Amino acid sequence: MAYNLLKGKRGIIFGALDEKSMAWQIALKCHEEGATFTLSNAPIALRMGKINELAAACNNSVVIGADATSLEDLENVFNQSIEILGGKIDFVLHSIGMSPNVRKKIPYYDTSYENFAKTLDISALSFHKVMQTAMKTDALNEWASVVGLSYIAAQRTFPGYNDMADAKALLESIARSFGFQYGFKKKVRVNTISQSPTITTAGSGVEGFNSFFHYAEKLSPLGNATAEECANYCITLFSDLTRKVTMQNLFHDGGFSFTGVSSELVEEIMKNVSE
Ligand SMILES: NC(=O)c1ccc[n+]([C@@H]2O[C@H](COP(=O)([O-])OP(=O)(O)OC[C@H]3O[C@@H](n4cnc5c(N)ncnc54)[C@H](O)[C@@H]3O)[C@@H](O)[C@H]2O)c1
Repeated sequence: MAYNLLKGKRGIIFGALDEKSMAWQIALKCHEEGATFTLSNAPIALRMGKINELAAACNNSVVIGADATSLEDLENVFNQSIEILGGKIDFVLHSIGMSPNVRKKIPYYDTSYENFAKTLDISALSFHKVMQTAMKTDALNEWASVVGLSYIAAQRTFPGYNDMADAKALLESIARSFGFQYGFKKKVRVNTISQSPTITTAGSGVEGFNSFFHYAEKLSPLGNATAEECANYCITLFSDLTRKVTMQNLFHDGGFSFTGVSSELVEEIMKNVSE
């Protein structure tokens, strides 16, 4: 059911690769809620992904290629988006992540400086660059909302998550630091959503993903949150109903982050012990 929560709002959505992507589901919901927006992804993803299908499903949204680590590319995304959409931007989704270590299964303790730097550059510093560019080009309206996607490995260790854990800790810190600056400067909100494990291209690439997907499902009182549910939450953050929420890392994980143990998990462990 749509509520027209984003009627008249203009946005930019980074990171939709295929229909499993969080950004894909978020784009569909933004469209359903009345927003107009441009879509952006890295040039290689535009060649390999299915983003044009998404664009067609969202009233022919324009797709703009950009490597999110390039300030020049980002400036082009903001300038073009304002022109195409006919005014300044009200919401931005940063749904970008990549670690060469995760991709090549290189253990955390064996990373090269170059690989580590690349993970941080793509997965966290690009969030800073997106906002830096938006500020420099004065691309956002007052009360605009910027959202990045995070994971609880920023606070607790999940070994397979590798250096992405450090990237998420940095991402969440950038949300606080930039949220402070942008709030005072232009009343712009900046938050991260810490989402349950979700089956996507980036998610499934993490070593042991299946086991911690099921572990989280059994531990969370409400079960894992799906990409579509994340999209619903995201809409509330882009809407005018959450104007005073900023600089937060918001857990969207069915209660996982605050649960110590569940009786279902204990029963399973005890069954194995007695066997
Ligand atoms: N899937 C999960 O379990 C999960 C859980 C919590 C948070 N997240 C976060 O959600 C976000 C989206 O990931 P996803 O799970 O939808 O996977 P995904 O693979 O669909 O999306 C990752 C996106 O990052 C883009 N990207 C990579 N390098 C880029 C670059 N240099 N410039 C621009 N774009 C680039 C990819 O093209 C892709 O579209 C990521 O930040 C991820 O860490 C995912």
